Amino acid sequence: MEKLAIEGGISLNGEVAISGAKNAALPILCAGLLTAEPLIISNVPHLRDVTTMLSLLGQMGVNISVHDKLGIELHASNIHTPEAPYEMVKTMRASVLVLGPLTARFGEARVSLPGGCAIGLRPVDQHLKGLQAMGATISMDHGYMIVRAPRLKGVRICMDLVTVTGTENLMMAATLAEGTTIIENAAREPEIPDLAACLTAMGAKIKGAGSDTITIEGVDKLHGASHSVMPDRIETGTFLVAAAATGGTVRVTGARPGTLDAVLDKLREAGVKIETGTDWITVAPNGTNGKLRAVNLRTAPYPAFPTDMQAQFVALNTVASGTGVVNETIFENRFMHVQELQRLGADIEVEGNTAIVKGVEHLDGATVMATDLRASASLVIAGLVARGTTVVDRIYHLDRGYESIEEKLSKLGARIRRVS
Ligand code: EPU
Repeated sequence: MEKLAIEGGISLNGEVAISGAKNAALPILCAGLLTAEPLIISNVPHLRDVTTMLSLLGQMGVNISVHDKLGIELHASNIHTPEAPYEMVKTMRASVLVLGPLTARFGEARVSLPGGCAIGLRPVDQHLKGLQAMGATISMDHGYMIVRAPRLKGVRICMDLVTVTGTENLMMAATLAEGTTIIENAAREPEIPDLAACLTAMGAKIKGAGSDTITIEGVDKLHGASHSVMPDRIETGTFLVAAAATGGTVRVTGARPGTLDAVLDKLREAGVKIETGTDWITVAPNGTNGKLRAVNLRTAPYPAFPTDMQAQFVALNTVASGTGVVNETIFENRFMHVQELQRLGADIEVEGNTAIVKGVEHLDGATVMATDLRASASLVIAGLVARGTTVVDRIYHLDRGYESIEEKLSKLGARIRRVS
């Protein structure tokens, strides 16, 4: 199993280019199922989750070709198996995103129940509730959800809670439904307007994506299109926190600063200087001593502070002055990085969904284990700060969501290498 070995204590400096967003690319790849014509998607990040999604689509019968510059062409003219098997769904929950497109275009989808995962229970009841309201019948068979609808019907759906992939699934399903669908209490994450832009280029009629009410007027058919995936706001935030924690000056380029307001506010509160341009953000130490201050934060749906940046800020707080109280409200089990950070000497106490992080003078390198994607990122950040060597084990989690992380960090001056 591959590991990362990091010699800590070196500040990151320089410029790093941001990749396409994983959580935008995954639903957009599924949108390829909605048309018999080719969908060309560019700026697709080279990640394990993307490869998993491509093999899932390939198994169903989608023709896939890879173009230059991270471009992928999908051609779903002939689908023989509208199914996401257990082996796929268990490795990547986002496989559930095929549910809406398959039902809308082929009248049937068979998707394995995802079950719980490392960060929480994560049910899909809202996805099913929405499809049912649109006239689909849902049955369960040996752990599979079977959704059938000759043609989905437009309705008004009020989501019981804010769900990102739930909103995406229903938005995609509604593009081919008969009549108008209104999704209330929709998620507002920036990946949703990015998906809507792709669907619109394919001929869908969508209004309000990015707000909590999305209106979709169904059409009979969607056509081929080209779309470039938005930059990854969580990768952006992760590099900014890594730079801040190590006391360096880093510019991230090809980013979208407007999608990171809550994260940038917290970085300013932590005491670093942030400058932004149209597609770049620079983080630098503030003032003469450059000491970081621990910050309090509470995760919540966009535009509030993202759960996907919580672990990285816990790492930042461990080496800041003072105490930061971190409240996780989205997932019930997203503090697994805490136990690993403690191995490096961090002072953190967890009470329910709150982590109380007291900054320490320094962390010391140790061997730690990655448990999920963002937890892994927080361990890498801590390793970059810690004195001596930190070995992060099970980095396949990291490869799910960070493109060439060790190359990018090396270019910023980090001493980091992949070892078997
Ligand atoms: N939920 C339900 N019922 C549902 C759907 C969700 O109870 O039918 C609950 C979940 O259990 C959770 C909350 O609602 O407590 C929010 O979950 P959401 O559905 O929004 O999460 P998701 O769509 O499965 C996406 C991202 C996650 C990110 C969350 C929250 C993708 C592919 N994944 O997951 O990304 O943490 O939204 O912003 O877009 C990551 O990239 O590391 C990652 C986990």
